[in-house]
Amino acid sequence: MDKDSLRQLLHEHLAWWGLTHVTSDQEYFAWQRQQLSPDELKQLAFLAEQKRNGDRRDEIAFYDRTAHSRIYPVLYSQRYEYYEAIGLRTMAHFGTARDLLDFGCGLGILTTLYARCFPDLNLVGIDRSPASIALAQQQAKKLGLRNLRFLCMDVETESLSGSFDMIVATHALLQAEQDPGIPSESWRTFDRGDDPSRQMAFEQRTGLAVRLDRLCQLLHPQGRMIVSEKTRQLARRVPFQRALAGRGLQLVQPADPIRYRIIEEVVEDGPFYVLSKGDQASVAWDELPELDDGTLVNLNAMLEKCRDANEPLYENHGPSAQVVWEELTERTVIRELTREKPDGRQVHVERGMVDDTHYLYCANTYDQRQLVMMEEARAVLLDSYYQEILRGLA
Ligand SMILES: C[S@@+](CC[C@H](N)C(=O)[O-])C[C@H]1O[C@@H](n2cnc3c(N)ncnc32)[C@H](O)[C@@H]1O
Repeated sequence: MDKDSLRQLLHEHLAWWGLTHVTSDQEYFAWQRQQLSPDELKQLAFLAEQKRNGDRRDEIAFYDRTAHSRIYPVLYSQRYEYYEAIGLRTMAHFGTARDLLDFGCGLGILTTLYARCFPDLNLVGIDRSPASIALAQQQAKKLGLRNLRFLCMDVETESLSGSFDMIVATHALLQAEQDPGIPSESWRTFDRGDDPSRQMAFEQRTGLAVRLDRLCQLLHPQGRMIVSEKTRQLARRVPFQRALAGRGLQLVQPADPIRYRIIEEVVEDGPFYVLSKGDQASVAWDELPELDDGTLVNLNAMLEKCRDANEPLYENHGPSAQVVWEELTERTVIRELTREKPDGRQVHVERGMVDDTHYLYCANTYDQRQLVMMEEARAVLLDSYYQEILRGLA
């Protein structure tokens, strides 16, 4: 099937599941209020909050509830463009695969799509939410899919036998959204160093270690694994990638970030990985921050630009602020403070001058950087930001 036909089938499929492509928040929330009662919305918000604690039972309770026939079409319509982005990208790699495992398949919205688009593929979808699997089985039956099985199982505690030449895990391996990951070695660098005990602690507390180990056991030696998780921040991306590499998984192609919209909000999820088991890395892992386009700015040009006097002369809230700050070699630091928490996390705040331009620079070990430059007459504003940050750190 060509790309356009796959896209068309994907749209028909999402419509069959009762999903609507809504692009306005106002429209979506009005529809949500029409479809679901205030009590249902309150309960869902409560369950979603509980799920963030990372407890297995709370997570299952949330996914079980979302599998209700009144709830999932409304809730998952928000993810319409996610299904589009992930579904099309994933299917582009199926090639000649014969046996596919969809780990953490949820309701099977994507798994049933894969089964429809690739009738010669044998698919297994697994998930630990019983209500999600019951719905997935019912929907697969309605669609008359014979090349697909859904199993309710927790991969961390139950074992699945078999060998798969394609394993897909999207938004299922590293759910622990509340986990900030591993901080950098100091506020001056994005480098995480190489501390196996910190890596192991991350993999264990997020459940990643056991999930990945199990999936690797199920992957055929010549198989491929497709993985996409919420790992945009370097603090999560680096240990996630190291967990993949640590199990002998190699990149088949450079990992591109995934972007889609949840109604009006643009979401950036972090890379989409296509992996194989092998000992020869042909594509290197990238542990650098995403440098926003055009930020290796021409600082001088920006400073020369005539601007509203109340506006900063220069402002950069991305990782490249560090590069620009490092280039301010002639700077005079007026005051600075570096705080270190008992767990080693650091934050640095610096107020200084370069010629007659004043700046404020903030950096921490979770890769946040901020550089603001103002002309002398506005320097007092930077002093008050500096004090405000200090109060926040107290
Ligand atoms: C955010 S949903 C993603 C669903 C689907 N993969 C998608 O991309 O739309 C995560 C799913 O992973 C499942 N899951 C998480 N840990 C699991 C485990 N250890 N064993 C089986 N399923 C798991 C959850 O029950 C949930 O349905």
